[in-house]
Amino acid sequence: MDGFAGKVAVVTGAGSGIGQALAIELARSGAKLAISDVDTEGLAATEERLKAIGAPVKADRLNVTEREAFHLYADEVKNHFGKVNQIYNNAGIAFTGDVEISQYKDIERVMDVDFWGVVNGTKAFLPHLIESGDGHVINVSSVFGLFSVPGQAAYNAAKFAVRGFTEALRQEMILAQHPVKVTTVHPGGIKTAIARNATAAEGLDAEQLANVFDKKLASMSPRRAAVVILDGVRKNKARVLIGNDAKVLDALVRITGPHYQRLFAAFTSRMMPPPK
Ligand SMILES: NC(=O)c1ccc[n+]([C@@H]2O[C@H](COP(=O)([O-])OP(=O)(O)OC[C@H]3O[C@@H](n4cnc5c(N)ncnc54)[C@H](O)[C@@H]3O)[C@@H](O)[C@H]2O)c1
Repeated sequence: MDGFAGKVAVVTGAGSGIGQALAIELARSGAKLAISDVDTEGLAATEERLKAIGAPVKADRLNVTEREAFHLYADEVKNHFGKVNQIYNNAGIAFTGDVEISQYKDIERVMDVDFWGVVNGTKAFLPHLIESGDGHVINVSSVFGLFSVPGQAAYNAAKFAVRGFTEALRQEMILAQHPVKVTTVHPGGIKTAIARNATAAEGLDAEQLANVFDKKLASMSPRRAAVVILDGVRKNKARVLIGNDAKVLDALVRITGPHYQRLFAAFTSRMMPPPK
C-alpha cells in the first residue's frame, strides 16, 4: 500500500485487534510507528511484530483518558521522530446494559475512554499534525455511531459523539486551510477481543453476550479492517464504513429514517441472551 512510507503514525489501543492490525499494516507500508496501550503485554507483542517487519517503533504505556499524560506523550513522539503525520484514535471499550439498570459510573467510563480518549488524542496531536504540513486525524467510531440499539446507550452515546466531533473537525480544517485531513471510521462486526474485554450491567451474563458477538456478529478479520481503513485514509475519505454489515445497516437506517428503531429493537431482542 503506497502513501505511508516515511510517515509517522500514532496508534492508540495498539495492543490488540484493529489497533494492532493497523500498526502492522502501516509498518508493512513503510511508516514509523508510535504505539500505545494500557495493556503492556499486548503492546509488547505488537512491538515485536513491528520490529520483525523492520519498522522504527516507539512503544509506550498510555491510558487515553489521562489528558496531561497524553499531551506530554504527543510532545515526546514529536521529539522522538521529529514530526507526526497521523493519529489513529482507536483505543476503545464496550459495555452492555439498558439505561434503567446501568450505573452512572459505567456510562462515564465508556464516555471517558471512547469519547474523551478521542478528544484528548485529537487535541494533543493537532498542533503537531498542522506543523507537519501533511497531517491526518483518524477517529474510530462504530456502526453504533450511525444508529442505536437497545443495551448500548453508553457506547452509542460515545460513538455518536466521536462522529459529531470528528465531522466538525474535518470541516474546521478545510475552512482554516490547515494541512490536516480528517476521517471517521465506522466498523461493523470485527473479530477482536472487544466483547471478551467488555463489561455488562449487573444481572447480565457478560460471557454469553461475548459469545453472541463472537459467533453471530463479528465476521471480518482485524487485518482486513485495517486494510480498508488505510485505503480510506489514502483516499482522504470523510467516512469509512467497514464490512457489508455496516454498509447494509447504514443504508437501511437512511432509508427508514427514525423507523429503524422499531425494526432494530425487534431484531436485537431475538439476538440477545436472556438475563442471568
Ligand atoms: N471489534 C468490533 O467489532 C468493533 C466494531 C466497531 C467499533 N470498534 C472500535 O474499534 C476500536 C478498537 O477495538 P477492537 O475491536 O480492536 O478491540 P480490542 O479490545 O481488541 O482492542 C482495544 C484495545 O484498546 C485498549 N484500551 C482499552 N482502554 C484503553 C485506555 N483507556 N487507554 C489505552 N488503551 C485502551 C485495550 O487494552 C485493547 O488493546 C474501538 O474503539 C472499538 O470501539 C470495534
